[in-house]
Amino acid sequence: MTRLVAVSNRVNVPRPRATPAGGLAVGVLAAIRSRGGLWFGWSGEVTDDEPGAAALTLRQDVTFATIDLPREDFEPYYGGYCNGALWPMFHYFIGAVQYSESQHAAYARVNRLFAERLHPLLRDDDLVWVHDYHLIPLSRELRALGVTRPLGFFLHIPFPHAEALRALPGFESLVRDLLAYDLVGFQTRRDLACFRSAVAEVLGPGALRPDDFVQHGGRRTRLGVFPIGVDVESVQHEARHSLSSDSVKRMASGLLGRRCVIGVDRLDYSKGLVDRFLAYERYMEAHPENLNRITFLQIAPLSRADVRTYAKIRRSLEQAAGRINGRFADTDWTPIRYLNRNFSHETLMGFLRNACVGVVTPVRDGMNLVAKEFVAAQDPADPGVLVLSTLTGAAEEMDDALLVNPRDPRAVANAVHQALIMPLDERRTRHERLMQGLRRDDIHAWHGRFVQQLQACTTPEVVNRTPIPIGRTGTGSGSHRTNVGQTWR
Ligand code: G6P
Repeated sequence: MTRLVAVSNRVNVPRPRATPAGGLAVGVLAAIRSRGGLWFGWSGEVTDDEPGAAALTLRQDVTFATIDLPREDFEPYYGGYCNGALWPMFHYFIGAVQYSESQHAAYARVNRLFAERLHPLLRDDDLVWVHDYHLIPLSRELRALGVTRPLGFFLHIPFPHAEALRALPGFESLVRDLLAYDLVGFQTRRDLACFRSAVAEVLGPGALRPDDFVQHGGRRTRLGVFPIGVDVESVQHEARHSLSSDSVKRMASGLLGRRCVIGVDRLDYSKGLVDRFLAYERYMEAHPENLNRITFLQIAPLSRADVRTYAKIRRSLEQAAGRINGRFADTDWTPIRYLNRNFSHETLMGFLRNACVGVVTPVRDGMNLVAKEFVAAQDPADPGVLVLSTLTGAAEEMDDALLVNPRDPRAVANAVHQALIMPLDERRTRHERLMQGLRRDDIHAWHGRFVQQLQACTTPEVVNRTPIPIGRTGTGSGSHRTNVGQTWR
């Protein structure tokens, strides 16, 4: 069997007390575990020295290969271009996009560094699967080093329509770099359609073939839709198993018999948390009979805290939660329990199982696996109800959830109410239908289909490129490695 080499910005080397893995990490690990292979990426450390060869760790048939990033490049690459320009642009927060040439150059340098450190580890027949927006130009850099074997890319976040994307300086090179892969995968048909609009914008509509191929410069790139799923059995097992754990027992006893509405999200402006709090306030205004009978638990671990927009959303949320709690709380009841701390994946699955309503209302999301985990974690005999934003990739597959526009507080409040009063029969029917979809498009189907299609790709030709100088200035004195933290989801 050919070896699978996965490449992503973050690598989750399984270790005790590690933060829980998000969708990307769970998906990549499942893919490599299914056939053995190598996972290459950033170690989570920055260094003042020239980053050396990748450090290798072997765990159960998977080799984790990690490199440190240059301190001076890390911030402009990660906080700057990746999460200050690409992330907001791809999530349609166009006004929040901060573009700077120097950050863009750092992005190019880090991608070159990834290619240079990965290249010596590659074998002739490896299948290389690159993940997410941090590494779009990796294809060009690997091709420049003479790599001709199939390269696949999967975008975990949405792809914006050309009409939005063209506001980003240099968007043309993002599109061209994606076309230096042999297979480019998206979460949904909408994302694929948006990418086709971008290809037409950059190369003209003639480059698009009706059968989801793009013909460009002697190369053929296959485009596809691969909705990421969850490991249903594992979520079910974790959810049941953790009911007897201390954290989940404490959560359940802390409810004092009240019903629980739950949200679990990385603290990100794309998750629609302020709108969600306002919608919940609307629900409490409309249903005073339920005050003190329901607790809304929002778990939102901090993320990308050094990026300005993230600090801002954190303040807004704290203010909203404080104001709403001040308005409705009683001496023995807090309506919104808002926690910034993290829990193990197993504990979270137990929390989801204990909740009657899951509120997943991002204003834009590539897929959103919490929606799928909420459904999989439920007790089939007495399942909770999912309230799901129409602006998530998951909504394309989960029409038995209560679908809402996350910006419409009345619609979200009504859906929460409908979920809380839904009869058992209807809850069971919806849950059963949702489970069928989750089982059909689970995590194994996701990586199985992608890898199969990547394998079917013919060996591409080498493309020309204009070199972008790495231009590292100074190596610093002494060896300084700094861990810059890790989040999830
Ligand atoms: C999203 C992205 C991932 C990323 C994760 C956590 O799910 O698609 O690529 O790893 O968020 O974000 P972070 O910036 O902490 O890696």
